Amino acid sequence: MVERKIILVTGANAGIGFETSYALAAASPTHHVIMGCRSLAKGQKALTDLEARKPAGTLSLLELDITNDTSITSAVEKIMNDYGILDVLINNAGIGLTTAKDYRGSILETINTNAVSALILTEALLPLLKKSNDPRIINVTSGLGSIADRLDPSSDSCGLPYEAYRMSKAALNMATACMHAKYQSFGARAWAYCPGFVATNLIGEEERVRREALGVDGGEKSAKGILEIVRGERDHEAGLFVRRDGGRWEW
Ligand SMILES: NC(=O)c1ccc[n+]([C@@H]2O[C@H](COP(=O)([O-])OP(=O)(O)OC[C@H]3O[C@@H](n4cnc5c(N)ncnc54)[C@H](OP(=O)(O)O)[C@@H]3O)[C@@H](O)[C@H]2O)c1
Repeated sequence: MVERKIILVTGANAGIGFETSYALAAASPTHHVIMGCRSLAKGQKALTDLEARKPAGTLSLLELDITNDTSITSAVEKIMNDYGILDVLINNAGIGLTTAKDYRGSILETINTNAVSALILTEALLPLLKKSNDPRIINVTSGLGSIADRLDPSSDSCGLPYEAYRMSKAALNMATACMHAKYQSFGARAWAYCPGFVATNLIGEEERVRREALGVDGGEKSAKGILEIVRGERDHEAGLFVRRDGGRWEW
């Protein structure tokens, strides 16, 4: 009997997480995708929309706010009870805009969501990942997290400020390196995966509409790169900071 692959995608109700959930569920009848969403209402709508596309694999919904320790504990318990294992963790949930009113608050909220929470969730899931014979962790980062790129005057994105976001993704990159190095003891691999330039609501609806008008996709291309990693087609890039279409970012 072919074993199921249990996959958790955080921030699965929208954008890249939504398209990734579909691509992974559609790729194989042995794939089960757990859609981690902080809003059950948004998550239920996303699940219904994806099930209507009739993927070959299966999907389910899990309430998960990655910044809330109680939510993490409940989510881990639920995965333990329902599946007893986790094969792939995709730390996709992230923010580009914050609700904080002050500069310090906005920096802390961004780093807390985009980096600290991804590491804390991953550590909480270790007992489940250790049960897999091929555990994989994909951290959805950004080229804006590249320190080398920020200092390269020839780069297109060199001039973009976004200090809080850049710092959060640089921290996520370091978390990825730590995960990859530390978890090799039980056979896990980690990737820092840049999904490219995508038309989503990450920095507001107006920006999504602007990107759509430029012909930018809504996450399908990013999902394809994640699927390649899940399938083992990019194992030579494990432990690296990779681009969606192949190739690498400098750390
Ligand atoms: N779009 C791009 O061009 C781009 C480029 C590079 C990297 N990225 C990265 O790609 C990832 C996905 O972003 P996206 O572009 O798809 O944006 P998006 O459409 O805004 O999706 C972000 C997702 O994360 C969820 N989320 C935010 N905070 C959360 C929390 N505390 N707990 C659980 N879920 C939370 C959101 O849930 P709600 O709907 O409830 O808010 C949403 O589902 C992010 O890590 C982002 O930094 C995006």
